[in-house]
Amino acid sequence: MQEADLLLYNIGQLLTMDHGNGPVRGREMGKLQVLHNAYVAVRDGRIAAVGENGELQNWSAGVRLNCEGKLVTPGLVDPHTHLVFGGSREHELALKQKGVPYLDILKQGGGILSTVRMTRRASEQELFEKASFHLDRMLAYGITTMEAKSGYGLDMETELKQLQVVQRLQAEHDMDIVSTFLGAHAIPEEYRDNPAPFLQQMKEMLPLIKEQGLAQFVDIFCETGVFSVSQSRDYLQAARELGFGIKIHADEIEPLGGAELAAELGAISADHLVGISEKGMQMLAERGVIACLLPGTTFYLGKPTYAPARKLIEAGAAVALSTDFNPGSSPTENLQFIMNLAALYLKMSPEEIWHAVTVNAAYAIGYGEEAGKIKAGRKADLVVWDAPNYLYIPYHYGVNHVHSVFKNGKRVFAKGASM
Ligand code: NIG
Ligand code: FE
Repeated sequence: MQEADLLLYNIGQLLTMDHGNGPVRGREMGKLQVLHNAYVAVRDGRIAAVGENGELQNWSAGVRLNCEGKLVTPGLVDPHTHLVFGGSREHELALKQKGVPYLDILKQGGGILSTVRMTRRASEQELFEKASFHLDRMLAYGITTMEAKSGYGLDMETELKQLQVVQRLQAEHDMDIVSTFLGAHAIPEEYRDNPAPFLQQMKEMLPLIKEQGLAQFVDIFCETGVFSVSQSRDYLQAARELGFGIKIHADEIEPLGGAELAAELGAISADHLVGISEKGMQMLAERGVIACLLPGTTFYLGKPTYAPARKLIEAGAAVALSTDFNPGSSPTENLQFIMNLAALYLKMSPEEIWHAVTVNAAYAIGYGEEAGKIKAGRKADLVVWDAPNYLYIPYHYGVNHVHSVFKNGKRVFAKGASM
């Protein structure tokens, strides 16, 4: 007889995502292995075994959960969020309705810069509590691992404050969080006419951030009117030399060559990519840079054109999906809704979408060997869905389909229960 702390059984469909090594690329993203009538045994917070119901009699368990034919998957991974910020930007909705473009709002000192003012004013405790609120909601939507960027300080003190909030959340919250320094997110008002010394100042922060272990990755907003390709190259090279992993907000609004730069520098991911060139797609595929797509942002900015997911997959790239959770261009914690958008507007198949929010999303934040799969020995991060099959989540939109979320084998969310 084998012992488990927790046994999920009578699982209608189990997606283990446990096939192959590394990120899943190109056509492979369309192939999914599904276990039927399955079970998952958990011991000491980790997966002890995965199998068919037939072997159930071999297990004794502290808690047994009859999944009644439901879908069970790995906890979702959200590889691109701007989690820590002060205030909110609902007042900008009216400007959007009048058709004022996102980059124009920024130019007028609104957008990211308005969140910068609110983040500078907020105390560390306020930021911590606010971010915890959003994290709880993310857990409730099935996310168990994520990335969080700084970038609403744009000065040393506030950027460090944001990173320290992430560090505290890493220690105190159930969510696994990977930290990214995005000091180069916008040009602050005080440097508007002279951005070079600002980027230099952010660059000078890098050794300290490394020394204090405050971030694993460095990111930059490479965009018209923000940071150019050559500024981004110089900055990211310095980060890479210090041992940081590299990420880029690339070709989000205008095609600038950010994807090519990501490939040239060996970035772990290039994110957004709405305006990516054909050459950029080839280069990402060849160099194994993960294409992280954020259709929620395209949707929320009201843009007519979405990132070319099909072409990226046909080129052989590994695609990940993310909320881009932030107060301006994508205020949502709901990665399930992003899965709906990926189906409708990126024309990704359900099989591709599941790879993009589990295994590929985990590799996009250097967590591929820790998260995104249900596999013996891994952390027991599991979602039980109120859904009969995996096709159902990208199909039925706008609601939370989660029945229960387990993080390290502990139930951290259950529908209808206050935890
Ligand atoms: O990924 N593009 C830059 N950064 C965010 C938006 C941040 C904001 O508007 O506050 C993005 O879209
Ligand atoms: Fe972003």
